[in-house]
Amino acid sequence: MAYRAPVVRKRYQKRESIPGFPVIPEFSHMRRARFEDGRQRIFRRAYNYDIPPGNGSVSDSGLIFVSFQADVDTQFTPLQKRLDELDLLNEWTVPIGSAVFAIPPGCAEGGYIGDTLLN
Ligand code: HEM
Repeated sequence: MAYRAPVVRKRYQKRESIPGFPVIPEFSHMRRARFEDGRQRIFRRAYNYDIPPGNGSVSDSGLIFVSFQADVDTQFTPLQKRLDELDLLNEWTVPIGSAVFAIPPGCAEGGYIGDTLLN
């Protein structure tokens, strides 16, 4: 098996399937989340939490998904739609909220935060 590892890794990186041995299934989160269109690229950050259960309660664990993008409509929304249509991860997760925040760019010396938007 050792000699096959580089082949599998190469195909895995290219998200290709070996006949009869799907490396990454079509319905998997990774496959569905992947974008071919470079304009949909986002910058992801995930914050896991796992609060120990108190007396009589169940555990409270999850992931706060954060993404940074210049344009929510053209970058994030198409990706979210694909995951909504099909993503096996959805069997294990329950979305409990979402929000969009506008983050102004930084400023040059002598300027102020948001000045490029306002001037
Ligand atoms: C409980 C929620 C989630 C979990 C546990 C989760 C988990 C994962 C894991 C394990 C990977 C593969 C490793 C990696 O690339 O980091 C991944 C990839 C990814 N996820 Fe998620 N994810 C979650 C929610 C989301 C959401 C809400 C989005 C966007 C709407 C998203 C977008 C992506 C993208 C774009 C990738 C990279 C796909 C690629 O390989 O090109 N994920 N996620």
